[in-house]
Amino acid sequence: MGEISEGKVKITAPAGVFYNPEMELCRDIGSLAVGALGGKLSLVDAMAASGVRGLRYKKENRNVASLTLVDLSPKAVATEKKNARANKVKCECVYADANKFLYENEFDFVELDPFGSPMPFLNDAVRSFKTKKKGYLSVTATDMAVLCGAHHAACLKNYGAMPLDNEFCHENATRILAAKVVLTAAPMNFSATPIFTISHRHYVKMIFALEQGAEGAVAAVKQNGFVSYCEKCCYRETARLPRKQDCPSCGTRMVHGGPVYLGALWDEKLLEKMLKLNVQRKYRRSKEIEKLLSTMKQEGAIASYGYYDLHKLAKKMKTSISSMDDAIGKLKRAGFAASRTHFCPTAVRTDAPHEAVLKVLCK
Ligand SMILES: C[S@@+](CC[C@H](N)C(=O)[O-])C[C@H]1O[C@@H](n2cnc3c(N)ncnc32)[C@H](O)[C@@H]1O
Ligand SMILES: [Zn+2]
Repeated sequence: MGEISEGKVKITAPAGVFYNPEMELCRDIGSLAVGALGGKLSLVDAMAASGVRGLRYKKENRNVASLTLVDLSPKAVATEKKNARANKVKCECVYADANKFLYENEFDFVELDPFGSPMPFLNDAVRSFKTKKKGYLSVTATDMAVLCGAHHAACLKNYGAMPLDNEFCHENATRILAAKVVLTAAPMNFSATPIFTISHRHYVKMIFALEQGAEGAVAAVKQNGFVSYCEKCCYRETARLPRKQDCPSCGTRMVHGGPVYLGALWDEKLLEKMLKLNVQRKYRRSKEIEKLLSTMKQEGAIASYGYYDLHKLAKKMKTSISSMDDAIGKLKRAGFAASRTHFCPTAVRTDAPHEAVLKVLCK
């Protein structure tokens, strides 16, 4: 591959060194989040490949005080060094196993961007905060099929969770990931709180604020629970433990998923700062980023688990629902909060109870 230009860096990625142009937006958003966090961060990109992500984080953000790039491939490390030199970015490039390296070192911001699931690296990533009072953990998972319920056994094995293959499976995926991060951090006396979440194409990326303290860790674990769902009428509810077997709306036996994280997925102030930075930076895909972040801001303000896919709801309830804007308008006029969701272009997020959704949209 010839020279690649992304954000503020220009890199090369020879054959055998991983580089996926489709993840540019993920790296744009990661860089915006790092910039929006402020402070002075020591940052490690623990699976750096060409180094493009970490190099962008440092070159584009003044608050990255130091950068370390790690990879288990010697060719990747040689490429990182070359790319760092070419972009005049001061950093350490280390040939190491991420787990061993994280266990032995300490950072403010840990980036985990592996092939597939980040779970095999999670323990040592949390350990790497060691004596820190606070830190940030950013994880990307590309095993969406597993998290969305196409492979139950793999989800049980990797996340200790039952997935749900339903219309809000992408949100479930992020909440399964978050629940597992919370449960991994808690025994090490860290609370993990999601501050940013994106589900896009084949991946989900979440950033967590970690804070040391047993009380906070317990409070974080108490945010985990289960989701129950009716395949027949789309009824859904959440609870610390599943309470009902049968759907209160239509009487059908429900399915259960979890553990899932039941708390907020975004920090509103962080989103606002990211939106402002996006305007200044003029990334190639800034319009798409603006749309995504604005939608997250709207949906993040609504207390709800999951969303209603209008096609699916109309089909199940044997009715027709005119359009997204119309549906959102009707729900708002009925006194409920309603918005689009970045998880699905044909779905509506609302705080309306299920019976009200059926009444407002399906009758
Ligand atoms: C998906 S790529 C990273 C992509 C990169 N962050 C980017 O944005 O372009 C995963 C990288 O992890 C590396 N890797 C795999 N197992 C590793 C391990 N145990 N420790 C460190 N690096 C590892 C691979 O060599 C590969 O370069
Ligand atoms: Zn039902």
